[in-house]
Amino acid sequence: MMKEIKKQIQKAIKDNNKIGFGRGVYELSDQIVAKPFSSKWRALHEYEIGMFAYNNGIQVPRMHQLIRPDRWLKRLNSDYHLKEWYVVMQKIEGATIRELTNEFEAQEARRQLNQEIDRLLDLRIYPYDSLFSNNSLFNRKENRLYLLDFCEWKRIPECESFDRNVNLCHKS
Ligand SMILES: Nc1ncnc2c1ncn2[C@@H]1O[C@H](COP(=O)(O)OP(=O)(O)OP(=O)(O)O)[C@@H](O)[C@H]1O
Ligand SMILES: [Mg+2]
Repeated sequence: MMKEIKKQIQKAIKDNNKIGFGRGVYELSDQIVAKPFSSKWRALHEYEIGMFAYNNGIQVPRMHQLIRPDRWLKRLNSDYHLKEWYVVMQKIEGATIRELTNEFEAQEARRQLNQEIDRLLDLRIYPYDSLFSNNSLFNRKENRLYLLDFCEWKRIPECESFDRNVNLCHKS
């Protein structure tokens, strides 16, 4: 299973099969994508906090697997080695809020964004970055907004006090 996914990633890299904004993600099938990370800690954080959010009912893609880079010896002997870390997750079909031309849909997407941010704060997670337009996708068929990109989310330990009204980054 793991080997199969690695092969799919290697093929997607070779074919440069990318979708999305910024650095984008590799499309492995119409069901799953792989997001590359050069840092182990960012990859682990994305996977763990994404899993936690999903398990607590937050509207995020389902996390599938965390893939490690190949060891250097294997890299020397293979054309298809993986140099980076990858988080494999459910592929979301959707448009960013800014791309929505229907005002009702845009309003609904913004409502869901605020609702999910509130629910994350209830879970003591600061979803820094979530107001960036490219960090969520609205699926029109499901009428559902998915939050993406959890690298910058921070969990606040129970023993620390925290202020729900702190400003979230607000660029788009
Ligand atoms: N699960 C997904 N399904 C479909 N498209 C996705 C998914 N995850 C990411 N994308 C697309 O890839 C783009 C980049 O993903 P993301 O925002 O997670 O990474 P990034 O901004 O490059 O990450 P980083 O915060 O590490 O710099 C998104 O804006 C979106 O267009
Ligand atoms: Mg992003």
